[in-house]
Amino acid sequence: MTSLEDLRRIVEAALEQALPATAPGPIVDAMRYGLLGGGKRLRPCLTLAAAEAVAERDGTSVDAARETALPAACALEFIHSYSLVHDDLPAMDDDVLRRGRPTTHVIHGDGMAVLAGDGLLTQAFALLAGIELGNQFTELIPEFNSQTSRRLRAVAVLAQAAGAHGMVGGQAIDLIAAGKVPSQPAAPLTTAALRDMHARKTGALLRAAATLGAIMAGADDATVTAVDNYAAELGLAFQIVDDILDVESSAEALGKTVGKDAAAGKPTYPSLYGLEPSKQLAADCIRRAKAALVPARLGGLLLEIADLTISRKS
Ligand code: IPE
Ligand code: IPE
Ligand code: MG
Ligand code: MG
Ligand code: MG
Repeated sequence: MTSLEDLRRIVEAALEQALPATAPGPIVDAMRYGLLGGGKRLRPCLTLAAAEAVAERDGTSVDAARETALPAACALEFIHSYSLVHDDLPAMDDDVLRRGRPTTHVIHGDGMAVLAGDGLLTQAFALLAGIELGNQFTELIPEFNSQTSRRLRAVAVLAQAAGAHGMVGGQAIDLIAAGKVPSQPAAPLTTAALRDMHARKTGALLRAAATLGAIMAGADDATVTAVDNYAAELGLAFQIVDDILDVESSAEALGKTVGKDAAAGKPTYPSLYGLEPSKQLAADCIRRAKAALVPARLGGLLLEIADLTISRKS
């Protein structure tokens, strides 16, 4: 049986391969810096774990399901890494430490960090489309085969999750709450608005990560829905724990600055509910996440990832 560590190794090797080979050197260097060299790779592992769980349940080839889902897994990590590069910019969270290293803009400058994020985002969709971006524009038409409709659905799901309705929308709410948008006066968030912000800025990509694994493995709609319900709970728990670690952990353990949410006056679960109730709320999410898998008879690494989401130290 595949372990989470096996999946991480597979993802790490595939990410290296998935960077654009022929683009101008400096932009590839900045993209490489933002993408590689650290990171838990939770989202791509979730994609592969969901694909494997569907194959295991259906008695089909686990290896084939994982192979089919690998480009989507990489696409998720490209988009996640872009979101971190932009999140750390001086115009956003203004952070200098990420994954145990100076942030991308500290090394490559603000302009190149913006472009590196743009490049990672765009490359994600090239990966999903199954094309290799290069200098020959005419060679980009992918062959139509049985994978094409799954890929198209995956493109739609990922665009929805990453865009203005999802991650980008959640980041916009966050930016306003931090008082960084001159045209929008910052107002305190209600608990419902905080939950909505977290569901968008973090939950949306985790939902896409898990559902893309199921979609690429050929799951039926009921299974995709079960996986989506699981990941929505997982996503909220993940950001609640991120908020808690910002209060309780250290820069050494996390590889990023701590105490920055309070310093920036950000609305978070600990600031609205307190630390202990936040831990309880995250645990409740994880219980519901696991329960959501039961009707679809899915388990395996998806359960392990659920536990890891609240036990993690980084
Ligand atoms: C950090 O995500 C940003 C959030 C959405 C909370 P991760 O904690 O998954 O960061 P990496 O990829 O492991 O660095
Ligand atoms: C980030 O949330 C969510 C993203 C979409 C990047 P945070 O701003 O809390 O993430 P960290 O703590 O900087 O990793
Ligand atoms: Mg942020
Ligand atoms: Mg941040
Ligand atoms: Mg945080």
